[in-house]
Amino acid sequence: MKQVATGISPDFKLNDGWLRYFPNREEAATQLNCNETHKEEHHETHILTLDSAKEVEARYFFLFQVDREPGSGLLLQAMKAIAYKGYGNADCMEEVELPDPVPGELEILVKIHATSVNPVDWKIRSGSLKLITGNQFPRVPGVDFAGKVVDVGKHARRFRKGDSVFGMMPVFSTIVGTYATLVAIPEKFAAAAPANLPLEQCAAIPLAGLTALQSLRDRGGMKDGFRVLINGASGGVGCFATQIAKIYRGEVTAVTSGKNADFVRGLGADHIINYHNQDFTRIGEEFDLVLDCVSNSTFDACKRILAPNGTYVTLLPTASVLFHSVMGSVFGGKRCAYTAVSIQSDDLDILRQYAQGKTIEPRVDKLMPLNRAREAHELSESGRVRGKMVLTVSD
Ligand SMILES: NC(=O)c1ccc[n+]([C@@H]2O[C@H](COP(=O)([O-])OP(=O)(O)OC[C@H]3O[C@@H](n4cnc5c(N)ncnc54)[C@H](OP(=O)(O)O)[C@@H]3O)[C@@H](O)[C@H]2O)c1
Repeated sequence: MKQVATGISPDFKLNDGWLRYFPNREEAATQLNCNETHKEEHHETHILTLDSAKEVEARYFFLFQVDREPGSGLLLQAMKAIAYKGYGNADCMEEVELPDPVPGELEILVKIHATSVNPVDWKIRSGSLKLITGNQFPRVPGVDFAGKVVDVGKHARRFRKGDSVFGMMPVFSTIVGTYATLVAIPEKFAAAAPANLPLEQCAAIPLAGLTALQSLRDRGGMKDGFRVLINGASGGVGCFATQIAKIYRGEVTAVTSGKNADFVRGLGADHIINYHNQDFTRIGEEFDLVLDCVSNSTFDACKRILAPNGTYVTLLPTASVLFHSVMGSVFGGKRCAYTAVSIQSDDLDILRQYAQGKTIEPRVDKLMPLNRAREAHELSESGRVRGKMVLTVSD
């Protein structure tokens, strides 16, 4: 890794440790466990002047904003990441270097081995969610990670250096995400990784697996033997939902295209509906739970196939969904619900147990290096990914 020096005034306020501040070079050398000799092995020295420092929040500081004039400074390490400086198509992403994050007192620092692509990564990148995500740039996409703990905050107790972990970062508030070699996260956002799986497969689990579990169990009130219909069973969430519904001994009807029929049968689906030939809302059958991962149907249309106390769960909270979910909780009967995935380490533990018991198996459709993130986003945007797409970050 390249050493980076900064010459920031001591009164410049830094937060969260994204940019490390040390009062002098000696202190930096001690804290970073390196010395001047180490530094001199590296040729490049960057200086962040006070003016340029003021322009950026320390937390969102990136190396390409650094003034390159030589001078005395403080030591920082630089990690690699994929970032964009404004919303746009996949081409707006580029490889950058940014200072290593430093774990806060209750955080762990994870060297990321792999991350995965979720549709929300490119939805945020495209700017279609900018009312929620705001206009802070540069931004590093990605929420899922699997890797090894390389540092532990003073009061973090759950993990030790060297532990293999997997987990996810908050979807909308994360500015520096997991398309990067390191991430500092509250330890509650991580869990021990499934021991039987390579980290590439572990990285495929968090967001999609948590969404599937919480949609079925919490939003849909999943019970043993439920008749469940899963729309979009071949996608990231649908793959896990199909397998988890089978753990509950559900009778699973999967809605998919003909080309993915055998694939979802292999996940445990009992019945297949090819959406090209049949409208699943008009099949004349009853379900206790309909999970609409594609979110291209409506509660009104799905009422036709819901049992009297059945629940329609969607992943897209439209105004109509919000209205019906409130009405359903007041009047009872057929219910409408939506999932907003929540990062629960207990749920990550459940997913780990499922994976270790081989009752769920992440299906990685494509594995590619981080520097092919643009291509990965374009594939995901095509809507044709089967299972999950994983990006390998480091060895
Ligand atoms: N609310 C939340 O907390 C939350 C959490 C996670 C995800 N999401 C959202 O949920 C959606 C699904 O996520 P994901 O990761 O599962 O997406 P994904 O992996 O990109 O889904 C792709 C799959 O969808 C299938 N598909 C496309 N059109 C279909 C249709 N008309 N009928 C049935 N299947 C269809 C495709 O199969 P074919 O090629 O066979 O068509 C493909 O396998 C995304 O919009 C995502 O942003 C929301």
